[in-house]
Amino acid sequence: MSSMSLNRTCVPLRALALALALALSLVAAVALAADPDEHRPCPELITSKGYPLETHNVTTADGYILTCFRIPASRTGAKPTRGPVILAHGVMDSSNTWVMNNAEESLAFILADASFDVWLMNVRGNLYGLQNTHLSTNDAEFWDFTWDDMANYDVPAVVSYVLNSTNATKVGYVGHSQGTTQAMAALSLLHPELADKLSVFIALCPVAHIGHTTSLLLKGLAELHADQLVSLLGLKEFIPDTATLHKLLPAICIPVPSLCEDGIFLIAGFDQADYNVTRQPVYMAHFPSSTSTKNMIHWAQDVRTDKFQRYDYGTAAANRQHYGTDTPPQYNVTNIRAPMVVFAGGHDALADPTDVAQLMKELPANVPYVSVEAYGHLDFVWGEHANTTVYQQVIQYLLSPPRTSV
Ligand SMILES: *[C@@H]1O[C@H](CO)[C@@H](O)[C@H](O)[C@H]1NC(C)=O
Ligand SMILES: *[C@@H]1O[C@H](CO)[C@@H](O)[C@H](O)[C@H]1NC(C)=O
Ligand SMILES: *[C@@H]1O[C@H](CO)[C@@H](O)[C@H](O)[C@H]1NC(C)=O
Ligand SMILES: *[C@@H]1O[C@H](CO)[C@@H](O)[C@H](O)[C@H]1NC(C)=O
Ligand SMILES: *[C@@H]1O[C@H](CO)[C@@H](O)[C@H](O)[C@H]1NC(C)=O
Ligand SMILES: *[C@@H]1O[C@H](CO)[C@@H](O)[C@H](O)[C@H]1NC(C)=O
Repeated sequence: MSSMSLNRTCVPLRALALALALALSLVAAVALAADPDEHRPCPELITSKGYPLETHNVTTADGYILTCFRIPASRTGAKPTRGPVILAHGVMDSSNTWVMNNAEESLAFILADASFDVWLMNVRGNLYGLQNTHLSTNDAEFWDFTWDDMANYDVPAVVSYVLNSTNATKVGYVGHSQGTTQAMAALSLLHPELADKLSVFIALCPVAHIGHTTSLLLKGLAELHADQLVSLLGLKEFIPDTATLHKLLPAICIPVPSLCEDGIFLIAGFDQADYNVTRQPVYMAHFPSSTSTKNMIHWAQDVRTDKFQRYDYGTAAANRQHYGTDTPPQYNVTNIRAPMVVFAGGHDALADPTDVAQLMKELPANVPYVSVEAYGHLDFVWGEHANTTVYQQVIQYLLSPPRTSV
């Protein structure tokens, strides 16, 4: 238990204040009628706001079928004139994250109205990534993946699919959280050639080094050894539901049970500056989504080592078998050739400022860096004012990418 430094005086106070706010908002939510967005899957979140929708199933080279959603026109029906953009959600999240707020606040709709051709991708293992050409979710092999596989297969498959469907030569890529991790892993090591296909890679809350995270869930996972994690949860699907959180975080769930009815803050941190508390039931209904236990073990490894590296198979022999080296190869972000921009929050528990500073040191020197001091991890996707604090600049960078570094 020594490596974990949960701030035990501070967290419960903030947790209690938050639990109270949530309790009040839930009372309010029950008093008012439930928000219909609670029960809308991604396609309906899009069409109910008056936007057109296309559904595309993208099959990866290793057989996963990722259901992706396209908004092929603006709310007025105007066809896009500014080229395709892929939005890549974060850890334990899904495409819903980009369309859960009002149309005036959600990045996907703002981009569609700004004449971009918007593609919302999903990764293997979340609710839109449960199909496979030859495996079922009952097969342990289905769940044998981490974000390294999302970098190796999911990102290239979606990029190729979008380019082929639109005849564009390049596509913009906006990632949040793990959506940035998978892109950095691909561009730095697994698929450097992807740089030629991306007009710009915009990283919201980039997560590479993660040794300084204050996410209670990730720190809790890092404290366990992989074998403990597997015996607690099984080496299959990881669903961060109440029962799982109780197993992983008894020190938090027992004193403040209401917090563990919903993993949002345990995963993403308590500091969200621009958060619509009244909308909590909608967020709870859509986040978190499932992933694999192996993916969470990969995250836990990188929290422990503070290295941005491939999955550690535990022994020199096993690593040699997978990688030809005794230790897992590192993703060296200095090698990223795509034009890239970083947006980071001063209060982000997952993309902690110390870790982002380390990343900026390693990225090519001319990568623009935009700091939104007040913001936490979720404000970049759900913030009420993210349009003005972040998205208008995202649009500018999509229209005028910075120069490539190398
Ligand atoms: C995509 O796959 C899902 C799940 O298998 C299926 O229900 C849906 O009809 C498919 N959609 C398209 C457009 O192929
Ligand atoms: C977003 O912000 C810009 C700049 O302030 C403004 O012109 C635009 O109307 C806003 N968009 C929405 C959907 O509110
Ligand atoms: C590329 O897109 C065309 C339609 O524009 C489709 O017929 C074809 O199957 C696609 N190829 C791949 C490899 O997806
Ligand atoms: C893409 O180009 C091919 C070949 O030039 C053409 O047949 C197809 O209609 C184009 N698709 C789109 C969506 O423009
Ligand atoms: C906050 O959420 C509530 C409940 O969904 C919604 O009615 C309201 O419009 C939201 N406020 C803002 C500023 O987005
Ligand atoms: C990363 O790559 C750069 C440029 O190729 C090199 O100078 C640096 O030493 C590498 N860093 C690591 C940790 O391998």
